[in-house]
Amino acid sequence: MKQSWMTACFGGKCPAFGNDTGLFDKRNLNPMNTRNRGQYLTEASDGLPALSVAEHAKDKEYALKEITGIFTRAMGKKWPGRLYYVDPFSGPGRCVIKDSGEETVGSPLIAVRVPFNHYYFGDLNQSSIDSLRVRTNQIEDMASSEKTVCYFSGEATETLDEVLKELPPAGKSLGLAVLDPWAWDFSFDYLKRLTRNRRLDILINFNIGDMKRRWWEPSPRLDAFLNIPTDHREFFEMKGRGVPDARTLLDHYERELGKIGYDYTADDMPVRNSNNTPLYHIIYASRNKLGIKLRNAVSKKTASGQFKMFE
Ligand SMILES: C[S@@+](CC[C@H](N)C(=O)[O-])C[C@H]1O[C@@H](n2cnc3c(N)ncnc32)[C@H](O)[C@@H]1O
Repeated sequence: MKQSWMTACFGGKCPAFGNDTGLFDKRNLNPMNTRNRGQYLTEASDGLPALSVAEHAKDKEYALKEITGIFTRAMGKKWPGRLYYVDPFSGPGRCVIKDSGEETVGSPLIAVRVPFNHYYFGDLNQSSIDSLRVRTNQIEDMASSEKTVCYFSGEATETLDEVLKELPPAGKSLGLAVLDPWAWDFSFDYLKRLTRNRRLDILINFNIGDMKRRWWEPSPRLDAFLNIPTDHREFFEMKGRGVPDARTLLDHYERELGKIGYDYTADDMPVRNSNNTPLYHIIYASRNKLGIKLRNAVSKKTASGQFKMFE
């Protein structure tokens, strides 16, 4: 496995592993620590930071395992040595469920277990990306494999230029990107730049729960995420609606995706809370019919698109 350490190396620091990375600095576990920007890190059984999450994270884990598995199995033969995976909001690779203490695997470590050839991981939280690197190195097959892994530390928007420089040549590779921030931490322009001229299928965490809860707050970030040229509240008011329902928002977003060539989308596996209220939809978008066929094979495996696959 070849590794590169991108933005974190700037400024002269490119630590190997150890206490000086901040990995074992318990202050990083404090949710009030502004470096974590409200995210909650806790400690996993391996002694490294993990995301503290709710039970429904198991749904996401299931969906990502299925989708990355089917994607690499189907596409690996057509694109030998040229499959890549991008995860700019990767987290530390492990999660701990708040109520039960059960541990789950985060998106980047799900992806390293399937046969992509190149990986691009990023997170604004330094201790998360440091921990992910340690965990990735601990996976036996990774060390001896031909895989390459690049790590980016910092705001996704700020590291995008570096990521684009490192990605494999656009016409000669096929990728899958998982865009899973807390809420709407990337703009539609970010998405356009990441995907321009690429064969890159995308999974987007479309956080419908937060969107509805915070709908009446002014939010240029939400406007930019939804690619709305004006205030989102005015935009949908102009169309004669109050708080739009989930379908209206998803349809709007998927229309915007269509404008940049993502003609094939699926969002029929909402992740719900214990009251059965949808929290977020994982939108799958592809420029290719085959991409969406693969994704749909996953929802067909579940009862009417509902997650009921774990005990
Ligand atoms: C929902 S968690 C990701 C979970 C991960 N996909 C998994 O399956 O475990 C969101 C991550 O995005 C990171 N993050 C939030 N805003 C960011 C930004 N603007 N740029 C880069 N990373 C960001 C957080 O530090 C956090 O680790």
